[in-house]
Amino acid sequence: MDSISGRHMIGRTVLITGGTSGIGKATALGLAAMGARVLVTGRDTRRTDDTAREIRVAGGTAEVFVADMSVQSEVRRLADEVLRQEPRIDVLINNVGGYWNSRHVTADGLEHTFAVNHLAPYLLTHLLLERLEQGAAARVVTVASNAHTFGRIDFDDLQGTRSYSGSRAYNQSKLANVLFSYELARKLRATAVTANAVHPGLVSTAFGADDPGRVQRLFVPVLRPFMKSPAGGAATSIHLASAPGLDRTTGQYFVRSKSARSSPRSYEESVAAHLWAVSADLVGLFIP
Ligand SMILES: NC(=O)c1ccc[n+]([C@@H]2O[C@H](COP(=O)([O-])OP(=O)(O)OC[C@H]3O[C@@H](n4cnc5c(N)ncnc54)[C@H](OP(=O)(O)O)[C@@H]3O)[C@@H](O)[C@H]2O)c1
Repeated sequence: MDSISGRHMIGRTVLITGGTSGIGKATALGLAAMGARVLVTGRDTRRTDDTAREIRVAGGTAEVFVADMSVQSEVRRLADEVLRQEPRIDVLINNVGGYWNSRHVTADGLEHTFAVNHLAPYLLTHLLLERLEQGAAARVVTVASNAHTFGRIDFDDLQGTRSYSGSRAYNQSKLANVLFSYELARKLRATAVTANAVHPGLVSTAFGADDPGRVQRLFVPVLRPFMKSPAGGAATSIHLASAPGLDRTTGQYFVRSKSARSSPRSYEESVAAHLWAVSADLVGLFIP
């Protein structure tokens, strides 16, 4: 069956973080068109409601959840609301993320890029894991980036307090997404939940618009005509969330809907395990 055009997602519930714009919104629209019930999260009530309306007008089913994912108490409230309202979650798409050129500090006192791009999906996935495990087969898809290949996890200065650069923080957070997906896959090996990471391509979205760097200001306007559309950028997330043949595919990195090699650093299991433990500490989770 064609995984993009079929209606085989009927009866499945998919939670998409950062579903109000760009790749996340196109992912929500695409999966809703395949029959999925989509749960869209956003940080702005109006934009989140508008997205749900667009999905419903197109004939889909959507529910909305509003939370600022830079704040851990908001991630916890979001998870509580989802768990109270939704008896099943078949797919979690950790799509929320962005680039911030200057160093911002969250309400929890953490560097913003690391908090939104890595810690928020890390925490949300943990909080929803039991519900995911209750399904016959569930999938966790995390939107990383090819930028992870330039990344390095700087355990001595994870929060960029000594030295910060927007691109360094972004690349680190995207490497964290890949390391997290691989470690999650290892930890879930005995379950029916898979975990994979995605590079969506270079996609024309609002990416970096909050606090753009030189690349966003100077090069993106020139490159924009050559970038993928949000729908094109959503294709790999949609494939991983919905393709019937991927129920057992786990611990992989997908580019253009195909499994691909990620950077050598992303396969360092000791780094992944250490990042897992440090992240648990930073979000206040007790991991035995
Ligand atoms: N665009 C690319 O070329 C590209 C390439 C590789 C990887 N990616 C990855 O793709 C993912 C989606 O990015 P995009 O390009 O689609 O960017 P985008 O258009 O800016 O979308 C980002 C989404 O995240 C939401 N968001 C941002 N900060 C948030 C917060 N604190 N709390 C809750 N929601 C928040 C945004 O909400 P608002 O609507 O309120 O802004 C929006 O829904 C990211 O993980 C990014 O790293 C993008």
